[in-house]
Amino acid sequence: MTDFHFDLHATDGAARTGVLHTGRGDIRTPAFMPVGTAATVKAMMPESVRETGADIILGNTYHLMLRPGAERVAKLGGLHKFAGWERPILTDSGGFQVMSLAKLRKITEEGVRFQSHVDGATFFMSPERSMEIQRLLGSDIQMVLDECPAFGGTEAVIEKSLAMTLRWAKRSKEAFGEQPGRGCFGIVQGGTFAHLRERSALGLKEIGFDGYAVGGLAVGEPQEMMFETLDFTVPHLPADRPRYLMGVGKPSDIVGAVLRGIDMFDCVLPTRSGRNAQAFTWNGTLNLRNARHAEDPGPIDENCRCPACRKFSRAYLHHTVKAQEIIASMLLTWHNLTFYQDLMAGLRGAIAEGRLKEYAAGLPFIAAAHEP
Ligand code: GUN
Ligand code: ZN
Repeated sequence: MTDFHFDLHATDGAARTGVLHTGRGDIRTPAFMPVGTAATVKAMMPESVRETGADIILGNTYHLMLRPGAERVAKLGGLHKFAGWERPILTDSGGFQVMSLAKLRKITEEGVRFQSHVDGATFFMSPERSMEIQRLLGSDIQMVLDECPAFGGTEAVIEKSLAMTLRWAKRSKEAFGEQPGRGCFGIVQGGTFAHLRERSALGLKEIGFDGYAVGGLAVGEPQEMMFETLDFTVPHLPADRPRYLMGVGKPSDIVGAVLRGIDMFDCVLPTRSGRNAQAFTWNGTLNLRNARHAEDPGPIDENCRCPACRKFSRAYLHHTVKAQEIIASMLLTWHNLTFYQDLMAGLRGAIAEGRLKEYAAGLPFIAAAHEP
């Protein structure tokens, strides 16, 4: 089996391109991971997700532990077989989803007790249990259990949270143990405080991880503040390990973060907005619900290789959106995931050729993504 390791192929300023090797296959970076929360990338067949160009998808510990349950997935042969996706899967640890979805949460040093948003049943998740679930699922990249404090917390609050998150990271890494072909990623927290981000990164490096995520961003702060936080966080991360910006983002967020040295991304935006009639294009977004598309015989994008653009008109997409037909969600999700993967391929190619800044500046939707 292939060892879990990261090969850097080229750098361009702070940006990098390379390949993250796992026991389940290679991930070209910078990479975008479509979100498959509940063992499905919503509205897509797994082979179609692959056709868009995805090397890896994301799954959620929180959702899968509630339904259908990690032990059940393990009994059925693991998440890859269960979901019909044989390539790499990264699982988030559940900390973030507990905070945003569960009811009656109570966090202690030991872990977090909460009630399921599905049926109200009580659960307890510790760093050890999160890692056990991720191992039962068969996840290729397992995330430590962390606490993601809300944006706007005081320095004292963020500092206290960060200290516990570091202790949880150590316990998570110990619980991960040794798993051939799989990796365990730490998560940098610290809000928008430079010295706390540095402390978090140094603490994680001391423990030693296969990759380093930046968490606690895209939680309501302006893009400029997210970029600034990356500017003082990324330099503290080891150059020879992949860097993952969690839950990001809009195309311009991704371009700005790649310029600052991030290698991996995940976001519900292309899938969720596809189910909500929004299409991403090189010139910005379109809403197919808008009446101006009602008689338009042209595709979303003349140059797009996806089936929504090769076979169907904006008029058809408008009609199926209005009629709430399932195919509207399928086609718009397929288009958006294709757009995101083509953007990542464009970024990788530009880095390899040492022309990322020119490439980024030439992207029509980019106006807001400033250089570091
Ligand atoms: N997804 C988006 N942000 C975060 C974060 O800070 N922590 C975790 N675990 N997942 C996230
Ligand atoms: Zn398309």
